[in-house]
Amino acid sequence: MINIAVLGYGTVGSGVVEVIQTNQSSIDKKAGKHINIKYVLDLRKFPGDPIEEILTDNVEDILNDDEVKIIVEVMGGVEPAYTYVKRALLSGKSVVTSNKELVAKHGAELLEIAKGKNINFLFEASVGGGIPIIRPLNQSLTADEIYEITGILNGTTNYILSKMADEGRNFEDVLKEAQSKGYAERDPRADVEGYDACRKIAILSSLAFGMQVDYEDIHTEGITKITKKDMEYAEKLGCSIKLLATSKKINHRIFARVSPVMIDKDHPLATVNGVFNAIFIKGNVIGDVMFYGKGAGKLPTASAVVADVVDAVKHLNRNIVSFWSTEKMSLMELKDVTT
Ligand code: HSE
Repeated sequence: MINIAVLGYGTVGSGVVEVIQTNQSSIDKKAGKHINIKYVLDLRKFPGDPIEEILTDNVEDILNDDEVKIIVEVMGGVEPAYTYVKRALLSGKSVVTSNKELVAKHGAELLEIAKGKNINFLFEASVGGGIPIIRPLNQSLTADEIYEITGILNGTTNYILSKMADEGRNFEDVLKEAQSKGYAERDPRADVEGYDACRKIAILSSLAFGMQVDYEDIHTEGITKITKKDMEYAEKLGCSIKLLATSKKINHRIFARVSPVMIDKDHPLATVNGVFNAIFIKGNVIGDVMFYGKGAGKLPTASAVVADVVDAVKHLNRNIVSFWSTEKMSLMELKDVTT
């Protein structure tokens, strides 16, 4: 048996508990051990919820318990998540997280700590919700030199843009709907201003190009200025408007940006609608690869988190080496890009 603790019982945290309970026997078989949720950390109370018995509001209960081998951090935000995760790793507990703010800001450092302790820091759910993208970059595409990543990386904005285009609805109205479905961030500016997609392309770039790409350096523009009129013009031109995140390696430097783009309706990314995300990767050996699936929401995200838990159990005392180093990558300005 292996004991784990879940930090945060919000949308993703409750999804993680649900996925483990629903598929417990097949998950245990795949992990090779019974996965037992020993604690759930949250400051709120959940009367009548089956997790009541394992609920704690004191993180010390978890961090000081040597029986807990894996921490699942699904609280979101940089602090206190960073402090808890760093302490957990330093004390020899592997960590699985869905927290893109944390990974974009401190991923390189946390990976180094995990490597030094021969344990794991895994974050499949931080990009693309349920879509496997981190593991493919880290493990399946290692024969390639990746030179371009382009994707729809935010489910909320894709949902909004799709509904505005297909149903002629206005921005605020559809945003409320995305929030009610559990897709949007607590602060919806993170979605609609493009910051969430920016952090995700920074994570993918850092992994693919093997250096630290700082999200603060990425030019980022959201969808708040897109109007019904823009949608009508795009339609007349046979195009769709999508919030695209792009990162290209050009002569040993990186050009990255997040912005709304008009794309031809024949382009595969134009057919990605609703909460779905898609990521195009170009490698010098494999050519083009595309990943597609639900990019947000309780269960798709929890599916990626629990898959990481299984991986962490399978590699309990063996670090899954990552290509992401702490060395900084300098980013090119738009004016420098000639290709
Ligand atoms: N708010 C994010 C999105 C959640 O809409 O894609 C998943 O990271």
